[in-house]
Amino acid sequence: MTQGKLIIVSNRLPIKIEIKKKQWQIKTSEGGLATGLGSFYREKGGIWIGWPGAQIKSESTEAEIKLTLRQQGLEPIFLTHAEINDYYEGFSNRTLWPLCHYFPSYASYSEKNWQAYQSVNKKFAEAVMKVAKPGDTIWIHDYQLMLVPQLIRQQLPDVSIGYFQHIPFPSYEVFRLIPWRNELLTGMLGADLIGFHTYDDVRHFISAILRILDVQSNMNVIEFEKRLITAEAFPMGIDYDKYFNHVKSTNTQKYSRKIIAQLEGKKLVISIDRLDYSKGIVQRLKGYECFLRNYPQYREKVIYYQLIVPSRDKVLEYDRLKQEIDKLVSHINAEYSSLSWQPIQYFYRAWSFDMLSALYNAADIALVTPLRDGMNLVCKEYIASKSLRPGVLILSEMAGAARELTEATIINPNDEQGLAEAIAEALRMPDTEQEQRIKIMQQTLKKFDIHIWVNNFLMHLNSIKQQQIKLS
Ligand code: G6P
Repeated sequence: MTQGKLIIVSNRLPIKIEIKKKQWQIKTSEGGLATGLGSFYREKGGIWIGWPGAQIKSESTEAEIKLTLRQQGLEPIFLTHAEINDYYEGFSNRTLWPLCHYFPSYASYSEKNWQAYQSVNKKFAEAVMKVAKPGDTIWIHDYQLMLVPQLIRQQLPDVSIGYFQHIPFPSYEVFRLIPWRNELLTGMLGADLIGFHTYDDVRHFISAILRILDVQSNMNVIEFEKRLITAEAFPMGIDYDKYFNHVKSTNTQKYSRKIIAQLEGKKLVISIDRLDYSKGIVQRLKGYECFLRNYPQYREKVIYYQLIVPSRDKVLEYDRLKQEIDKLVSHINAEYSSLSWQPIQYFYRAWSFDMLSALYNAADIALVTPLRDGMNLVCKEYIASKSLRPGVLILSEMAGAARELTEATIINPNDEQGLAEAIAEALRMPDTEQEQRIKIMQQTLKKFDIHIWVNNFLMHLNSIKQQQIKLS
């Protein structure tokens, strides 16, 4: 389907290097991209370029890691302490992330961070140039690397380049706050195909380039520097079969039985989030408190597991958020606990796939209530994992996934009262209705899984290249 070899470029590799007692080890990732593209790029003799996560302090260790990863088709880009600070935590996560998620008050505009973003994007582009040949397909992922498409285009004018933005593209009114908006958009326009999760993102992107760059467009096809570039929505799916079947595995079943036994008949509500202000964790906890206050009949009959996976904790806003969540959980537990019951069990760490699968299986309700999310895969994983027991998904209308999962109970994440009512309604929902809704959503997720997403994007990219060749 792709021409030549496939080169994938993302800020993180689909593995992580962890250093323990001066020894390094490779940790595999269960992330959507890793599973979706993992087998594909290897099959094609492809290469995945990205940061292996850790900061490596010695050149000999770097060389050792490089050698091992190269055998797996992975090309590590090592980042220095300053680059992690200014490019990753700085420009990527203190400028682009908050703006794209409509948190302009959290955004900082630092020239130093912008310089680092440009130089790290160059570093990634140079790594691509070392392995790319005319006829290859290069697929760049996400906001950390917006400048890479154009940097490659300048050197390989005819190569096929795709860019996918996994986070929302904000309205022009927000995007124009960035002093370097022209450079970022020009960077993206180096691609032939620019993908987003939703049509709203496509619309916002087109509107931003028309106003900021003075280019021409015909619907979603943009003319820029004598090239035609397509912007299109490709809602990302998950590895449906993997989640659906894993629930039945021996380990997951063992964990599930343990969780269900510990519940002693109480209903289980779960949330699983990366620590992030865009996930609406504080608002959700307040909504849960409102539920406990307004529906006292359910106290001692429900338990809420809030799982938070540590993330970006060196960024000020994340550290503050963690403190706020800690306080709020303690407050709710102190206010409502009895001698034999605690309303929230709060966990701050990463979990194994077996355990996640068991939790999805056991949970009667999943609360997925981001204030803004490009797609959100947790809600899709929950539905796919419901192969043995029913359950209710309460989903924010601000998640990209809400466009597809229309049988979920859709709520506004800022509406505490609305969330409280949705939880009470979910507890009353008959099993038959839960099953029906899950079945409809499962059909959608099975049909549009991660493999279809990868195929659709690459097929589209390939056909754009074929058309360009015909027209030239
Ligand atoms: C989001 C972004 C990804 C990012 C992930 C984890 O899903 O779209 O690009 O990799 O969060 O964040 P982190 O900063 O740990 O890479």
